[in-house]
Amino acid sequence: MANDKDSIVFCNGVVAALANSIVAFTNPGDKVLISTPVYPPFFNIPKSNGREVVSCPLVEKNDGKFIVDFEAFEQALAQNVKAYILCNPHNPGGYVWDEATLKEIVRLCAQYDVLIISDEIHADLMINGEKHIPIAKIAGDEINRIVTCMAPTKTFNLAGIQVSYMIVPDKKKRLQLEAVNMASGQGSLNTFASVALQAAYTEGTPWLDELLPYISANMDYVKAELEQIPGIRIIKPQSTYLIWIDYRELKLEEKDIMKRLLEIGQLALEPGTKYGEEGRGFLRMNVACSFETVRDGVERFKKAFEQ
Ligand SMILES: Cc1ncc(COP(=O)(O)O)c(C=O)c1O
Repeated sequence: MANDKDSIVFCNGVVAALANSIVAFTNPGDKVLISTPVYPPFFNIPKSNGREVVSCPLVEKNDGKFIVDFEAFEQALAQNVKAYILCNPHNPGGYVWDEATLKEIVRLCAQYDVLIISDEIHADLMINGEKHIPIAKIAGDEINRIVTCMAPTKTFNLAGIQVSYMIVPDKKKRLQLEAVNMASGQGSLNTFASVALQAAYTEGTPWLDELLPYISANMDYVKAELEQIPGIRIIKPQSTYLIWIDYRELKLEEKDIMKRLLEIGQLALEPGTKYGEEGRGFLRMNVACSFETVRDGVERFKKAFEQ
């Protein structure tokens, strides 16, 4: 992977980096592919920049994990798609894409000459010793079609500093991106952001070493408790701190489960359809908080199902 410091372009957040990449490398009216369900700005950013979003749903395996349906993926690419926004690892679901999946994504995107914008903001949040594979690392000769967007803000709980960096091995693309960053007033970082970013990466390892087992234990607790409710199923995420709660077997409408949680449990969770129609039947819970807060949330959830 070309990871020399010249490949790095800084920006004011990963969502801003996605937006600037879309503006730099695609034109109004172009098609941008995403794998759904996915983090909502993957829909909004291309759309609000006048691009057309093409959704390719992930498909569920028997074990409940979602994977890329490569037949559908290729059909989507063949619709003259110009860029694919990859979420690696995936939010929601916390999937860590394996090397074979990433290689197939690169192969097909190369075949259809599609740029890959890879959002890897959750890369450091690996649960149970999982290993993140940056797509640029396995891209081989196709490295120049990849723009990787990263930030220390999820891992080190620094979202307020609004910083991100893009790894852009292709010099021509780097210049295009820098021009868009400048044009949108995002060409430089604020001082707090650069100091915090450097401190996080040089001194943050002990924090991360403590954080990962803590999140993992929070996840285990939520899974063990909520699966006592008949019809609730949770696949423990491989990464992130976000639990994707499957309530499809409850046969409840989204608005009804939200209402029940809110009115009886006084608990608000993210409704799955916020991540696309494929998220229907799921709720997203964030467990990047103290165990006491997680336990309180779980108790509220269970209370909503007591009657
Ligand atoms: C996949 C993904 N990308 C980007 C972001 C937000 O990044 P930023 O705050 O740097 O814009 C999030 C936050 O939830 C996320 O989950």
